[in-house]
Amino acid sequence: MTLFPVVDYASHPGFTGLGPTKDDPAADSMIAEIETAYAQLCERAELSAEQRLLVFERQVEPRIDSLLRHLGETAAPGFHRFTTNAFLAARQSMRDYLRVRGRDRLAHNSALKALSSADLSRLENIRRDGFVTFQDSAAARDIWCKTWLERALLRVRKRKAPTRHCVMPLSPTSPGAAAAERAAEKLGLRKLAESYLGKPMEFCYAALDHSHDGQNWHESCYGDVGVDTAKTVYMHFDADCDIIKTMLYLQDVGEEDGAFHFVTGSHAWERPQFATAVQRGFDSASSDEFPLTEDKLDYLTGYYRPRFKQPEHRRNLLTLPAALRGSTHFGDDLLDGSHLSDALLEREHAFTGPAGTVVMFDGSHGIHRGGQVGRGGTRWAVQIAFRAGTTKKQPFWRRIRWAGKRRVLRIRDVIRSLRQLQETT
Ligand SMILES: [Fe+2]
Repeated sequence: MTLFPVVDYASHPGFTGLGPTKDDPAADSMIAEIETAYAQLCERAELSAEQRLLVFERQVEPRIDSLLRHLGETAAPGFHRFTTNAFLAARQSMRDYLRVRGRDRLAHNSALKALSSADLSRLENIRRDGFVTFQDSAAARDIWCKTWLERALLRVRKRKAPTRHCVMPLSPTSPGAAAAERAAEKLGLRKLAESYLGKPMEFCYAALDHSHDGQNWHESCYGDVGVDTAKTVYMHFDADCDIIKTMLYLQDVGEEDGAFHFVTGSHAWERPQFATAVQRGFDSASSDEFPLTEDKLDYLTGYYRPRFKQPEHRRNLLTLPAALRGSTHFGDDLLDGSHLSDALLEREHAFTGPAGTVVMFDGSHGIHRGGQVGRGGTRWAVQIAFRAGTTKKQPFWRRIRWAGKRRVLRIRDVIRSLRQLQETT
């Protein structure tokens, strides 16, 4: 398999009778032109990131504007507003790609020089498969001990909203975040991410994730038409192309514990860049379009892709040109037993392993999933993200000032968290 999967929504049972789907050759040819212009620009290794962005502004963006105007001529006003927001997000994601993933990144990759032969072999793995694994049980123990407060808060969340997401970012003041950052440095994850992307990378965040068997935020998208939750449910790729992520298990993870999965090699499959960016754009614009829970982790309707759940929104999807229909989280839309579903499942690798299993992966390009826990299963894991940016070291005085401030903020955070715990018990 070398091409990224394309879902044919017009023939999916969840969309039957919602048409008619309209043929729009003018839109199709505009999309093809945008794809060609953008693909050619991505290939231009002689241009710097700034020059590529300038060409994008002059040669690609006007075509995107024309397409949006064209779509607006026939779209319902409410849905066109949603489409406009999706296109805005798509442009940003295309700009980010030019900035971070342009052809020049490997030609000027100074990070390679600092790599040992073991690091080079890991780099080879992530380039080939889209992921690389490590083992560090001491790091898992350390992070586990230092996240007692966050774990208590997540247990409360699990009790209060058992079907929803159960995850929280570790505050920069948390000893758990510091332990995660230390573990990442010790394993050489930042250096590896730098050599993979050919860009300086900085620690972006660490998040604690508790998956358990009460969660159903990803289930029954097409229950209304009698289609069971797909075997490929929650297969997706991430939104941010400038981020490289790592999953670190804090406890042993077996088959039923929501193991992380990655479709080997899928990060390198060719894909239509503009269409993918628009699908990403619709996903990110959904948070303005559909009401969220107070903690912004879930949609009020419960299911995590609201635009696919209700027939009126599915109908809107069908009014788009076929190339633009879709989502970064497309696994729920594949039919069990279809060629595509079987092909992805066959190539999917499950990472079961003891506490301290670490998987670094290219999540914005590779297809992956995790947290689909079987009956009685549970998973505690930390996700660590690095973002392409600067690695300028802070001046000494600023680091000292932050160390002092961090202590004060930590006390405030702990008091706040303990109050929260007290209120709920
Ligand atoms: Fe992801």
